Parts: sequence; structure tokens; C-alpha cells
Amino acid sequence: MKKEILICGGTGCTSSKSLELLDEMKKLIVEYGLEEKCSAHITGCLGFCEKGPIVKIFPKDTFYTKVQPEDAREIIETDIIKDELVNRLLYKLPGTEEEIPSQDDIPFYKKQLRIALRNCGIINPEVIEEYIGYGGYLALGKCLEEYSREEVIDIIKDSGLRGRGGGGFPTGLKWEFTKNSESDEKYVICNADEGDPGAFMDRSILEGDPHSVIEAMAIAAYVIGAKQGYVYIRAEYPLAIERLGKAIEQAREIGILGDNILGTDFSFNLGMKFGAGAFVCGEETALINSVEGQRGEPNPKPPFPSTSGLYGKPTLINNVETYANIPVIISKGAEWFNSVGTEKSKGTKVFALAGKVNNIGLVEVPMGTTLREILYDIGGGIQKGREFKAVQTGGPSGGCITAEDLDTPIDYDSLVAKGSMMGSGGMIVMDEDNCMVDIAKFYLEFTLDESCGKCTPCRIGNKRLYEILCKISDGKATEEDLDNLEDLSNIIKDTSLCALGQSAPNPVLSTIKSFRKEYEEHVLNHKCPAKICTSLLEYKITDDCIGCTKCAKICPAKCITGAVREVHVIDNTKCIKCGACFNGCPVHAIVKE
Ligand SMILES: Cc1cc2nc3c(=O)[nH]c(=O)nc-3n(C[C@H](O)[C@H](O)[C@H](O)COP(=O)(O)O)c2cc1C
Ligand code: SF4
Ligand code: SF4
Ligand code: SF4
Repeated sequence: MKKEILICGGTGCTSSKSLELLDEMKKLIVEYGLEEKCSAHITGCLGFCEKGPIVKIFPKDTFYTKVQPEDAREIIETDIIKDELVNRLLYKLPGTEEEIPSQDDIPFYKKQLRIALRNCGIINPEVIEEYIGYGGYLALGKCLEEYSREEVIDIIKDSGLRGRGGGGFPTGLKWEFTKNSESDEKYVICNADEGDPGAFMDRSILEGDPHSVIEAMAIAAYVIGAKQGYVYIRAEYPLAIERLGKAIEQAREIGILGDNILGTDFSFNLGMKFGAGAFVCGEETALINSVEGQRGEPNPKPPFPSTSGLYGKPTLINNVETYANIPVIISKGAEWFNSVGTEKSKGTKVFALAGKVNNIGLVEVPMGTTLREILYDIGGGIQKGREFKAVQTGGPSGGCITAEDLDTPIDYDSLVAKGSMMGSGGMIVMDEDNCMVDIAKFYLEFTLDESCGKCTPCRIGNKRLYEILCKISDGKATEEDLDNLEDLSNIIKDTSLCALGQSAPNPVLSTIKSFRKEYEEHVLNHKCPAKICTSLLEYKITDDCIGCTKCAKICPAKCITGAVREVHVIDNTKCIKCGACFNGCPVHAIVKE
């Protein structure tokens, strides 16, 4: 049987030379005259980015990790020619080092269920026939031939699908509102702005399976009565733009886009609009302004886009992952979809797992999977065996969840009940070495940078909030500052114009709620328990010093003295806390206190 070599062509793997690996494989296939016996292709992201570049070989489903171009010859000679495994490239179970040849047996994948990512890592995203070969565009055909617009809405409603862009609004209801808005012209938009720090699920879907989004947008256009659609995508996603552009072209060529689609009287065109990478442009009204060529600033709602959106016309805006679920819901039915998940959150959710967890990457799990399962069974636990401290879900709009809530089944409502939110699916894991004041500062700094400045509570209030946090991490804050932090947070939440400002204080409020003692330690005792806040640190040299003089030579403040082969001393009145000595000491004789 012919062997197919699949090489991950997502952004993560391509940045680790997977395209060079593909070229090398293709060259070797010709060199060894193996064209009849095997072929090599790129695919979309397999999610296990930490182990990339990943190579899969069918039909045995062999899974090789961290494969470099120089490994290609061994794979060809051993796997393809001799039909033997290249053991050194197989995934090894941490701890036991047991080799696991097949993807399905790797713990990272065992609890995953790939619905939105179903084709990523399987098909070549640049070949429309591969999408069609996996059942692609059947759902569009089914909708156009068999279902009325109302019937499609009923299927989406029955499926229980809720928006994956952050708000979790029921998708079928949104489609119904937009369909029922009377207008001669309507628009369909895909929100591919993806500004949350650490999130890359939408990018991976567009890179790995762009046709699923095109198909869903065409179905949406048929349902609401639109002839034109746009994918609003940030310009920093060049690979996604390239693949989506190719996919739109191919769909047009075979009559999936354009006039009289599949021989019916339904016509739909699709284009791309590029965002300049401003987080606020992901907010739907700001996005619409940006597409119209105006400043990307939010407008008050109502009116909602479903009644007055692009150019004042009814507009349907959904997220990339939301769209990616649509064709498979139509093909397999609402009941199939709503049998997965919890009572009020159906289907799966893709998370971008990052931070201090062993297996970093994209993870798609049924709603209702617990955080513990994601972090430990899929994520492989905390790096270097350290203690778990918190996980930030929902990005800058979300909050931290602590160890006592690790068994919470994840869905939209339970995360809100724990003081966080689903958001678009960013999941950043923290351990004992993270300072929660510093984490709150990080997210607030991000929202401050990204605030459009249109309304005062967000523009000025968040700045003041940030200043109070800086006072705390500098050891200059009082108990009154702590109270002000909470009061001001609540005022900003209540009075900001859009959800960016309304949610900006969430990381502050959630870290104070769960880690008040840590805040108090900074304020009352001028100590940072995690030893992160530099102003509250002192570097000291212990008796382990061998007097190599390295630190004295590195120190930019020239505040380290000592003779050769004698214990050195730091003058802390001059130290600027740069940490160069700490990082440079060969015998770890310098400690933080
Ligand atoms: C500041 C801000 C940024 C947002 N960024 C995104 C984004 O990058 N992608 C996205 O789909 N939704 C984003 N949203 C949510 C959108 O406004 C909108 O709710 C979503 O695109 C609707 O699609 P859905 O119903 O499929 O989730 C953002 C909202 C806010 C307030
Ligand atoms: S809340 Fe912030 S981002 Fe939103 S409109 Fe006001 S200033 Fe702009
Ligand atoms: S680098 Fe370390 S061992 Fe060398 S003098 Fe400095 S403290 Fe001592
Ligand atoms: S932290 Fe920086 S400034 Fe302070 S002693 Fe070390 S090298 Fe010098």
C-alpha cells in the first residue's frame, strides 16, 4: 500500500523548518525512485506544537516528533523502504521513556475530540479536492438542495452551538435575527482578528482547513440572504492569508463561490479585509468600522450588527471556530453535535494551552472536560515538577482559576461562576514562581496599550489602575490603595463603552479575590513571595562564592566587589536589580531574597 508522509505546515512547525523538511522528503523520494511507493504533503496544525515539526505516516499512523530536514533520509531509508520505525523520532512518554508510535495512543490526544479541527493535520489545505474528499462542501449542497433557510436555522439552534469568539451567544439565534432583518442587502463577516495574547486556534483553522470556513460562510449567506462576505483577518497572519486566498480562488474556480452556486440561483462572493493587529478591532462594531475604512473604534450597542452592521445593513458576524463547526453540524446532524458537551454548552472548544505546562499546543476537548484533565492528562502536568498555582482563561477579559477549582467542568457558565470566562480559548498556566500582582500588571498593560481611547473610564481609569498596581509591585502602596484598586475596577467595568474596557479589570479583580494574601504581602511587608517584583528584591552572595569575579565584571552598576578567590559582596544601595549577576554566576552562589 502506498505510504503518505504528512508534514505539519502550521506556523509553529514551519518556523522550525518543516517546509525545508518537505522539500528534502520530496527530493529524496525522487532520488530513491519511490514515487510509486510514497508521496509527501503538508497539512495543517496537529496541535502538539511543543513537539514540532511533526511528521505522520499513513497507513500505519506513525507519529514522529521534532523532525528536522537532516532526519528525512533516515525516515525514507528506514520507514518507507524497510518498513521499520525510526525509534529515536517517536514520541516518548515522560518518565518511563516508553516509545509510542501512534498518535491515538499519545496521552496528549487521548482525551481530545477534534470537531472544529477535524481536518487540520489530515488534509492538504491547499488542495480543494482533499477537502471535498473528506466530505467537504456536501453540507452546502445539502442546504441548497434539501433545506429551507428556516430549516438550517433550526438545525443550528438544535445543535446548541454558541459563539466561540468570546461571548458565547447562541449562533442559531444570531442567524435568525439577521435573517429576519428586512433589507435589500446583507453581509456575512468572519471575525479572524484573534487578538488575545497566546491564542492561535483561529489562525490554525484558517491555515489547516480554510474551506470549512468558506463553506460555513456560504451556508450562512444562503440562510440570511447575503451576496457578499468578508473575512476580517489580521495582517500578521501571512500563512493563513495565503492559504485562505488560495482556497477562495479554488472555490471560485469550481463554482462554490460566485454566481449561481452549484447550479442554483444562489450567488455569493467572498473577499478578505486585513486588520492592522489592534485588539479592539476584534470587537464587532469596531471591526465593521475598520472594514468600512474608518477608525477601528467600537460603537454603542444597540443597534446590533444583525440589524445595522456593515454600511448600515444587517450583518452576521461569527468567529472562525464557530464557522468551522457549521458544515459538520449540517452533515452529521444537530443531535450528533449536541450529544457532546454539557447542558448549556454543546460541542467542543479549542484551547491554546501555554505557560508552565509540559505539553504546549492546541487542544480541542468536549465542553465539560475538567481543567485538571486538560492540564494534567493532556498537558502532561506542570513543567519541572513545580506546584500549580493558577490558570488564566479568557485572556485579558478573563481571570484566574486556582487549584481548588481544578475539577470544574469547563463550559461557558461554570467559568463565569468561578470569576473567569471562556473567552476565545487562551489558557495560560502559572506555577509557584509566578507573582499574581505581576500577572495582573501584564494583562492590564496589554489592555492599556490596546484601548482605543474613545471613552474616559477605559482610557484614564485603566491607566490609574495600572499605576496602583505599579505602586504595589514597587512596595510603595498602602492598604487604601488596595481598596481603591477594587473600587476603581468595578467603576471601570460598569461605565466603559465596550467589552474591552468592561472586562479590563477582570484579571485584577480575580487575582485579588484568589490571592489577596499575596497582594497584602507586597503592601504590608514589602515582599514579593514569588520573588518576581524586582523593586522588592535583594540579591545576596552566599558563602558558595568561589571568587571567580565574573559577576563583578558583568555588573552594569559596578556594585560588586571582592578579590579573586574570595567571597564577593553586593552593595545593594547601588544595585539596579538587573539580575545579570544572578544569571551569570557559574556556581549559583547568588540568591534572591
Ligand atoms: C476587545 C474585543 C476583542 C474581540 N476580539 C475578537 C476576536 O479576535 N475574534 C472574535 O471572533 N471575536 C472577538 N470578539 C468578540 C466579537 O465582538 C464578537 O462577539 C464575535 O466575533 C461574534 O462571533 P461568535 O458569536 O461566533 O463568537 C472581541 C470582543 C471584544 C470586546
Ligand atoms: S472601553 Fe476602551 S476600547 Fe472600548 S470604546 Fe472605550 S476606550 Fe475604546
Ligand atoms: S560569579 Fe558567582 S562565584 Fe563568581 S564571584 Fe560572583 S558570586 Fe562569586
Ligand atoms: S542585579 Fe545587576 S546591578 Fe545588581 S548586583 Fe547584580 S548585576 Fe549588579
